[in-house]
Amino acid sequence: MKAAGVGDVWVMVVVLAAAVFTATLANDPDLLQDVCVADKSSGIKVNGFVCKDIANISADDFFFAGIGKPGLTNTTTGALVTVANVEKIPGLNTLGVSLARIDFAPDGLNPPHTHPRATEIIFVLYGELDVGFITTANVLVPKHIKAGETFVFPRGLVHFQKNNGDKAAAVISAFNSQLPGTQSIALTLFTSSPPVPDNVLTKAFQVGTKEVEKIKSRLSPKKK
Ligand SMILES: *[C@@H]1O[C@H](CO)[C@@H](O)[C@H](O)[C@H]1NC(C)=O
Ligand SMILES: *[C@@H]1O[C@H](CO)[C@@H](O)[C@H](O)[C@H]1NC(C)=O
Repeated sequence: MKAAGVGDVWVMVVVLAAAVFTATLANDPDLLQDVCVADKSSGIKVNGFVCKDIANISADDFFFAGIGKPGLTNTTTGALVTVANVEKIPGLNTLGVSLARIDFAPDGLNPPHTHPRATEIIFVLYGELDVGFITTANVLVPKHIKAGETFVFPRGLVHFQKNNGDKAAAVISAFNSQLPGTQSIALTLFTSSPPVPDNVLTKAFQVGTKEVEKIKSRLSPKKK
């Protein structure tokens, strides 16, 4: 692959994560102690996760090897998001940052979606992508980006990434939240449980029930 060396890439990743952490207002609440490693086994519900006893934390609470290799892109849309958030790295609890890796087959799409709790900044590891976000004034802000380049998706705004090239592509995403959350627009509207009523969708999209039912059945994993 024509990207920079692996060392360079990871230096960039660290720089990206640092940029997200320092250059924007933190969206997650500030931490009140050095660390608060998530105790997933606790039944206590708080904003985030309760802390493990400090005597019981280890380096592995801050470690994850899961985004070093390409993910399998044989998905419905030809793209796969692999997250490295507090669910995978308990030490991220209260720290306000996380990463993800997105792999794209040729023609792959990460469909329009939003992260309610974070701004996202992506760094292209290899390949080329057509990306964009849409402002609340309904203006599309599109860009063609390639290996070594960076693009930002402001918090909460709907955005997408499409590989129109004939080679695989991959990006590293950094977020200013330990758990950015994702709402994929099509899945949110057409596959929620219980379902959004057809008469909401027919009026919103100005189409008939048949079209709505068709989209619902196409997107529903069970009805394929
Ligand atoms: C530390 O972890 C062990 C094993 O998971 C557990 O049995 C023990 O109660 C923990 N200690 C504290 C102080 O949380
Ligand atoms: C994707 O490919 C992997 C490995 O080749 C295979 O195990 C998996 O079942 C495939 N998934 C789908 C949805 O086709």
